Parts: sequence; C-alpha cells; structure tokens
Amino acid sequence: MSHSHNAKLSLMGLSKSFGPVPAVVEVDLALRQGEFVSLLGPSGCGKTTTLRMIAGFMKPTAGSIAVNGNTISDPSNVVPPEKRSMSMIFQSYAIWPNMTVGENVAFGLKLRKLGRAEITERVNRILDTVQLRHLKDRYPAELSGGQQQRVALARAIVIEPEVLLLDEPLSNLDANLREEMRSEIRRLHDAFRITTVYVTHDQSEAMVTSDRIVVMNHGRIDQVDDPVSLYNRPRTRFVAGFIGRTNFLDGRVDGNQIVFPGFTVPLASLPGSSELVGEVSFSVRPQMIDMAMQRTDDAGWWVEGRIAERAYLGEYWEYVVRPVGSALKIRVTTPPTTVHGTDEAVWLRIDPGRAARVPAPSAEGVPS
Ligand SMILES: Nc1ncnc2c1ncn2[C@@H]1O[C@H](COP(=O)(O)OP(=O)(O)OP(=O)(O)O)[C@@H](O)[C@H]1O
Ligand SMILES: [Mg+2]
Repeated sequence: MSHSHNAKLSLMGLSKSFGPVPAVVEVDLALRQGEFVSLLGPSGCGKTTTLRMIAGFMKPTAGSIAVNGNTISDPSNVVPPEKRSMSMIFQSYAIWPNMTVGENVAFGLKLRKLGRAEITERVNRILDTVQLRHLKDRYPAELSGGQQQRVALARAIVIEPEVLLLDEPLSNLDANLREEMRSEIRRLHDAFRITTVYVTHDQSEAMVTSDRIVVMNHGRIDQVDDPVSLYNRPRTRFVAGFIGRTNFLDGRVDGNQIVFPGFTVPLASLPGSSELVGEVSFSVRPQMIDMAMQRTDDAGWWVEGRIAERAYLGEYWEYVVRPVGSALKIRVTTPPTTVHGTDEAVWLRIDPGRAARVPAPSAEGVPS
C-alpha cells in the first residue's frame, strides 16, 4: 500500500511504542485539503503522541506519514519540524511574554524573511480576523486568557501553513470562554481553509469544530465519522458512551422475539433483523425515548416501567426508569414541562430505527 496523492495529509499504519508500552497502534487516516479533523479520546489514548509524530517531533516505531503523497516520517527518516510547512499549538500554549501582540504574530513571517510591508499587511489582516487589532501593542500579561489564545491562533495561522496542528488549545480557559473560542476556531477555519488536526478530549468541542472526528481508544482508532453519524450511528460501545450519554440495551434473540431485561419486542420490528441470532445490543440516547402515561397504538418498542429517579436540569428533566421486574436503568430526558413523580408507572417508547446496533458486552470485551 502507498500514500494517496489525493490526500493532503495521510497516516498509514502509524504506531509508536515507548519501550513495551504501545501509545499509538496502527493508525490509518487521510485528510483532504482544507479538512478539519479532530482526534478525540480520553486521557492517555495517544492523541498528543499522534500529533507530535505528524509535526515531526517524534519518530514512529512503525508506519509512515505523508503530505501530498510524499513521505515525511517513517521509522528510518523524519523530516524535522522546521522543514515541514506546519504550525503547531501545544497543549500548554505559549506566546512570548516579552513581545507585543503584533510582534508575536509577526515573528514567523520575519523568520521567513518576508518584506516589511507584507508582514504589516498580513499581521493586520489576521488581527482583524481574530478581533485583536486594537490590542496590537499590548503585551501578553495585559491580555485575558481568551485574548492570549487568539494571539496564539493568529500566530499559527498567519504563516499560512499547509497543515495546522492544535493540541487542546482551549484547555487553559474557563467553560464560557472555551465555548466562545471553539466557534471562533471554526470561523477561522472557514476563512482560511487550512488542513487542520485538532486534539481534544471534549466531545462538544470536537463536534462544533470538525468536519470529521477520529475517536481514539487505547492508541487505536475506534471510529472516524462526521459528527452526526458518530452520534447517531456509533459502531462500538466505547464510541456510543464517549460521544454523549446513552443507554445500552443488551438482549437475546429468542425465536421471533428479542428479550431484554424487563421487556420483549418482536424481532420483525427491527429492519433487516432476519439474520440476527444470539446476543444483540443497542445504544439508545436518552432524548430519543418518549415517555407516556399510557401505551398507545404507535409503533415502536414499548417498555412498561416505574420512575426510579428524577432530576430537574432547567433545560430538561432527566428520569431514570426501571422496566417492570428488572434491575435495568433506562435514562430518559423530556422537555421541562413534562413532569412525573418518583415511583410513578410510565410507558417508554423507543423507535427501533433510532437504536444503534453495537457489539454485545462480551464481544467488545468491556463491561457496559
Ligand atoms: N515520552 C514518553 N515516554 C513514555 N510514555 C509516554 C511518553 N509520552 C507519552 N507516553 C504514554 O503514551 C500514552 C499516550 O500518551 P499521550 O500523551 O499521547 O496521550 P493523550 O491522548 O494526549 O492524553 P491527554 O488527553 O492526557 O493529553 C500514555 O499512556 C502516556 O503515558
Ligand atoms: Mg495530550
């Protein structure tokens, strides 16, 4: 196999071990020109290690990296970071404290020996874009966290790298500012269309910014998809549980029925169900379940249960429902106006078309 020339950036069988510890395992990924892709996963899953290999700070143990089809990293040869047309913002970002905003942003252009007039023009343009033109002569210590972050972004983008690498660039900011900045990052991307790899462990951040999200789990890729597919069609239990909250319904095919703890549904209710046998599992989001006082004729999987817990979160109610005669807990969210009391008898209705098939717990080797 060889790297595709159609891809801007491609990783093939990319692996990195630290002694016996595998940090990144056989990662395959190809980014189109101008694509924004996130690496998403829990702490220690190999995100930073992958990014550092892309940047050229680290040699892979196996596999290779190519830009425009030309190999720039493999176990025998690594093109150094300064010879790659890439910008990286590190996990603990830094802008130079002894330089003004304008000088920070101009730095990379001066290194590239651009003319003074062009430098001024490009610095002003990017500072306009990140809305910092009026703070051009300030020093970093005189800026808020979000403003410093915007300087770091401006400095990385102004050199118009072929590839932009961002390692949790918002991790130092408080929640409100993070929300503001993630939209800002997407807006900058729409303006400059730089091929970007964005590392985060925050699923909302990945969903707001990205064309596609790569979910990593113990050094491996579990799934690569656009945000909508990833949320609605997770292919593993890990992905289903990491991207938003979910219920796992673990059942067993018995004749023409699927038997779940506390309820049974006709096998035929599931599209393409004829080949299903043995253990079958589904991921169902709490807001995809309807709750009612009575069963009606509406199609779907009906579950009779009782409310075990409830919590009011302002924007919605969250209920935990136990199907009759079972220890299963099904989480359901409803609009704030739908009020039920603890211990009340209710019916749940699940649309099988919105239940995502996932591996049974035994098949994925993890407890749910
Ligand atoms: N220089 C190193 N030497 C030994 N082990 C390392 C080294 N760097 C990383 N590791 C290990 O490799 C694994 C992946 O680390 P990495 O920094 O890539 O994780 P991450 O996904 O970026 O996590 P976080 O979200 O916490 O930043 C971890 O188990 C880590 O302990
Ligand atoms: Mg990291």
